[in-house]
Amino acid sequence: EMPLLEQCYNLLDFEAVARRVMKKTAWGYYSSAADDEITLRENHSAFHRIWFRPRILVDVEKVDFSTTMLGTPCSIPFYVTATALGKLGHVEGEVVLTRSAQKHNVVQMIPTLASCAFDEIVDAAGPGQVQWLQLYVNKDRAITQRIVQHAERRGCKGLFITVDAPQLGRREKDMRMKFTDEGSNVQNGQATDTSQGAARAISSFIDPSLSWADIPWFRSITKMPIVLKGVQRVEDVVKAVEAGVQGVVLSNHGGRQLEFARSAVEVLAETMPVLRELGLEDKIEIYVDGGVRRATDILKALCLGAKGVGIGRPFLYAMSAYGQDGVDRAMQLLKDEMEMGMRLIGARTIAELNPGMVDARSLFNH
Ligand code: FNR
Repeated sequence: EMPLLEQCYNLLDFEAVARRVMKKTAWGYYSSAADDEITLRENHSAFHRIWFRPRILVDVEKVDFSTTMLGTPCSIPFYVTATALGKLGHVEGEVVLTRSAQKHNVVQMIPTLASCAFDEIVDAAGPGQVQWLQLYVNKDRAITQRIVQHAERRGCKGLFITVDAPQLGRREKDMRMKFTDEGSNVQNGQATDTSQGAARAISSFIDPSLSWADIPWFRSITKMPIVLKGVQRVEDVVKAVEAGVQGVVLSNHGGRQLEFARSAVEVLAETMPVLRELGLEDKIEIYVDGGVRRATDILKALCLGAKGVGIGRPFLYAMSAYGQDGVDRAMQLLKDEMEMGMRLIGARTIAELNPGMVDARSLFNH
């Protein structure tokens, strides 16, 4: 009585199936968000407040939505963002996502708290496949330095430092589960306390004293482009430019950290005009994540100035419900939607997307 994969017509369909078939602990960890989950909902509703202003009578017989992210060519402007504990949802864990990413020429961000060993995830990649490292900074900087330099040696093309999680948010759906699952065996070598849900169990090593003053040190230990993941206001984007990093991810961590954090697209709409005014728009790449479920969401973010978007839960749900076939199909559905979306808004290439193609006024007046 589980729906056939062919009956999943969009990314939200995978969530509905996953909710029914996943183990409760896994569903609790993947789906949960902070407190009353207001920011989680806002991540979706913010996209619903942006409307298109399509161009007509543009020859859109051929559309091309390939692009580059941090200098890496890719087939479509989304990447698989870092989500911890892949083995909660599927016995093989993150390598399933790696294989789909390879098949679709999509970038994958490898989480510090992956269930699979880092090397296993890199080894699962095909020749030329691009992966980035998501970093939770350890209180012991020698450990962090080892992780970063190992990733660079293994060919990672970007270092995404998570900056929105000095302490893990309260995800009560997750905390209610007594957490004893196999998938909790992350490779960070830390003792775990499983009494308060998966998130608490794996996160005690994260350094809450991390600050802007640490950025030059990261610059000194790696040549990988550095991106700050979890930026939430334009002032900090400007600081990031000044700090000399190559990018930021506007993100509220999928609603899992600060409750009442704004959606990334709203922060994006606030950010781009300021960057343009300061002449900084070409100095840094802006990514967004949170609530992206449709190609129209991707298009809205790109029109507003994002270089690319991260997608998290949908791939976990597709993987948990259907394994690699599920993730493959989820990515293909996004590509199909993207081709149609580009045609219907009258854009032939990513370079043609611009702020004039969206009406984002309702983001701020509602
Ligand atoms: C995350 N996210 C995350 N971020 C990070 O920097 N390090 C991590 O280990 C994790 N782990 C993680 C686990 C799970 C189950 C989820 C759902 C999310 C946040 C993630 O990278 C991203 O910001 C959001 O998932 C984007 O929102 P959507 O696409 O899930 O709505």
